[in-house]
Amino acid sequence: MAATRTFSIIKPDATRRNLTGAVTKMLEDAGLRVVASKRIHMTREQAEEFYGVHRERPFFADLVAFMTSGPVVVQVLEGEDAVTRNRDVMGATNPENAAEGTIRKTYAESIEANSVHGSDSAENAEIEINFFFKPEEIVG
Ligand code: CMP
Repeated sequence: MAATRTFSIIKPDATRRNLTGAVTKMLEDAGLRVVASKRIHMTREQAEEFYGVHRERPFFADLVAFMTSGPVVVQVLEGEDAVTRNRDVMGATNPENAAEGTIRKTYAESIEANSVHGSDSAENAEIEINFFFKPEEIVG
């Protein structure tokens, strides 16, 4: 199967605890390759647009506040079946439901401060990658 790409964010709770390397190692150990990476402080406008699908949800304002509360690391990951592979190693959104050995089970603090984001489909991966990266910033 050909290599595919997905989009990942290492969230502010993880960068605050200096876990960028630890999280990235778990991604790499799961067979994913980091082909683009940058540390940014998301603006409120970026967070609101990125999470626009959740605009009507009760947690939207808190989510935007959290995602702009500190630096994040946005990454493009490449590998066989990258979207599923990444979702498997991330674990369930709520760390209470995440399987042993997953990033969220290991590091997440709560359903909001859950250490990582990953695209939920190939279509959204393309949209999310293009939201943060120019083609020349991705080096496979
Ligand atoms: P993420 O994959 O980044 O996509 C949306 C985020 O909303 C999700 O991870 C959670 O961190 C966050 N969130 C906060 N509260 C909730 C909730 N009650 N249900 C689902 N997601 C939530």
